[in-house]
Amino acid sequence: MSLPALLRIGAFPPVAHALLSQHFTLVPPEEASDAQWAAFQGLVTRSNQRVDPALIDRLPALRVIATCGVGYDGIAVDHARARGVQVTHTPGVLDTAVAELAVGLLLALLRRLPAADAFVRSDRWHREGAFPLGASLAGKRVGIVGLGRIGRAIADRLAPFQVSLAYHGPTDQGLALSYYPNLAAMARDCDILIVCCPGGARTAGIIDAEVLAALGPRGALVNVSRGSVVDEAALVQALQAGTLGAAALDVFQTEPTANAALLALEQVVLAPHIGSATEETRLAMAELATANLQAVLAGKPALTPVP
Ligand code: DGY
Repeated sequence: MSLPALLRIGAFPPVAHALLSQHFTLVPPEEASDAQWAAFQGLVTRSNQRVDPALIDRLPALRVIATCGVGYDGIAVDHARARGVQVTHTPGVLDTAVAELAVGLLLALLRRLPAADAFVRSDRWHREGAFPLGASLAGKRVGIVGLGRIGRAIADRLAPFQVSLAYHGPTDQGLALSYYPNLAAMARDCDILIVCCPGGARTAGIIDAEVLAALGPRGALVNVSRGSVVDEAALVQALQAGTLGAAALDVFQTEPTANAALLALEQVVLAPHIGSATEETRLAMAELATANLQAVLAGKPALTPVP
């Protein structure tokens, strides 16, 4: 029996592609025939891709858009819903991977690991002697911007490092961590901000010049959320002027490239949007996307529809 065909938007890592291919025939847009465009009932995508109204409107038989990712800011969700198309995502299965990366980036930033690695490789250790001192994580106050599933996973992993934790978000969750309804006020009281809130219109640019100034010359910013959450021009300016200490970024406004000004700065650690990029996690994301697609195509409720 032939497998149901899906329109595949974006390239998937081998582990995810192989899993999806066990259940579906994946067809990229450039290989789809007119008959296939007319017949596709499902579309599978990734959170680094755009699924805009024009694409949705080319698919008259579409019933479900499944993204392998928790973020869905690249998908025209309202347009899909207005067309009666369900949109699903993969929350939960990537919390650990993203939290581990956030902690890893933070440690890499404080201990200047990329520069330390280059120091050994380039033999500067031999020529120059001691490497410049870093900063300890213990004793620092860390503010988490967005205490959802990922934010909680980050808090859980940071607690044993003997930090004090605070959070900012739309609601006070009544936890032992200090809650700040005002983001700049939290930044003022913290040494480190970790951004892990959802992207999209509600959070666009909330890490602005005021928040960066409040974090201050000894402060560090870690962003594992979306590039859109940070005012990148203000970030570059603060780092260049020394009014912000350092930044570790997994996400950028202009992916898949990073602002050239950031590349020139030594006090930044950069990663190519790898929050969920582990074999285990990408497999789990593909499994959940598959389950969502199969459910909706069988006329059953999706497991994890976007809220
Ligand atoms: C997501 O799932 O939205 C992540 O950004 C993917 O790594």
